[in-house]
Amino acid sequence: MLLLKKRRSVLLASAAVGLAVTAGVALVGTAEAASTLGASAAQTGRYFGAAIAAGRLGDATYTGILTREFNAVTPENEMKWDATEPSQGRFTFTNGDRILNQGLSNGSKVRGHALLWHAQQPGWAQSLSGSALRTAAINHVTQVATHYKGKIYAWDVVNEAFADGGSGGRRDSNLQRTGNDWIEAAFKAARAADPNAKLCYNDYNTDGVNAKSTGVYNMVRDFKSRGVPIDCVGFQSHLGTGIPGDYQANLQRFADLGVDVQITELDVAQGGNQANIYASVTKACLAVSRCTGITVWGIRDSDSWRTGENPLLFDNSGNKKAAYTSVLNALNAGGTTNPPSPSSPSPSSPSPSTSTPPQPGGACSATVSLNSWNGGFVATIKVTAGAAPINGWTVGVTLPSGSAVTNAWSATNTGSTGTVSFRNVSYNGQLGAGAGTEFGFQGTGAGPTTTPTCAAG
Ligand code: G3I
Repeated sequence: MLLLKKRRSVLLASAAVGLAVTAGVALVGTAEAASTLGASAAQTGRYFGAAIAAGRLGDATYTGILTREFNAVTPENEMKWDATEPSQGRFTFTNGDRILNQGLSNGSKVRGHALLWHAQQPGWAQSLSGSALRTAAINHVTQVATHYKGKIYAWDVVNEAFADGGSGGRRDSNLQRTGNDWIEAAFKAARAADPNAKLCYNDYNTDGVNAKSTGVYNMVRDFKSRGVPIDCVGFQSHLGTGIPGDYQANLQRFADLGVDVQITELDVAQGGNQANIYASVTKACLAVSRCTGITVWGIRDSDSWRTGENPLLFDNSGNKKAAYTSVLNALNAGGTTNPPSPSSPSPSSPSPSTSTPPQPGGACSATVSLNSWNGGFVATIKVTAGAAPINGWTVGVTLPSGSAVTNAWSATNTGSTGTVSFRNVSYNGQLGAGAGTEFGFQGTGAGPTTTPTCAAG
């Protein structure tokens, strides 16, 4: 089915497949065991937060868990560019303020997310380029950071600016095309507007030592050496059925540059290892003294953007899952880290998300949703496995004559005009039966008008 609808957002899926966490050393003594995530994290000097949605704050089960368990909040969508500046120069903070006030009234830290990102830009910004876009972007940073001045613990100043794959370079985007210095310009503007907020760079698929995380590392090192203001790096940690074996080492190498590190969007595909992986992430953060806190990307499974993957700590009814208990136990262990348990995945053998290993050749399907404007578009493609798990996929999208792909994310394209082929990247090729993932691309001209093809294997 072809879905044609106006929408401003592009979804980024990421799931590291992987490896076990290595051992570390004891850092913090154990206090009396706490019975909630936030209280337990606080005993180690850290926060434990959740991404929350303004539209769910009327749900008593949701807010009950939120106020009981968490001592930090991140707005899932409400402080993004499309939400805060829907038309140029007209700022709307109603929903962002609701999240802020919810957090502050509960004594929680508030993480601001996100000042600049290639996705979820308002339509007017998507159609700008060059100095007009740069000026608008920096004005956006200044206005939003000023509105929230003194109230935000840490801002994701720039989100997801590095490319997937092995280049270690920047992602192409309208912002990147304004000049390579757009990131430091954003950080400087944020510092000027709110000198007390910690300023973070945030990205996904940077959870282990790899080309992308090394690209970010090199940028942070460069910023520190030149005095560009940066205080923290966020590791989203949208994980699949494994965790990179060098997860903790990766956090530590950034911390060693003199920045805080934070786990900013943690969720883990439900599978045999979900509870272990959550525990491993928690232990890794506790083992790195500059890891200041963990945020999970939603509260109940039914609140998650990863529909059908049940990746969170509470089930649809708000009950604590095994993963919750493993996180609480890890927090209550008081800042120690342990060798991987025998049931953790081994460093050399990524494990599949289901008990049935993915088989090549299973069927898949794809749908597209479009956000179009005069002269350009962003397409979000949902890839769904059929009745059997799949190990890799290729999606074919036919563009109208005169249209061209300018950049893609969470997939690699071959060709840019006519029928363009998109191949999965390393972290989103394995899909369980019926499971889905998304990738996206931006283009000039008109978007596709026919249903994409999907081939598995
Ligand atoms: O609010 C509208 C609603 O009015 C409309 O009826 C509905 C129909 O599609 O859409 C609603 O907006 C959706 C919005 O979430 C709120 O639910 C958007 O379509 C949808 O695209 C948007 O998805 C968000 C996604 O970012 C957009 O890229 C997810 O909630 C949010 O969890 C996700 O978060 C990102 C982080 O910001 C950055 N890192 C990756 C992470 C996961 O993709």
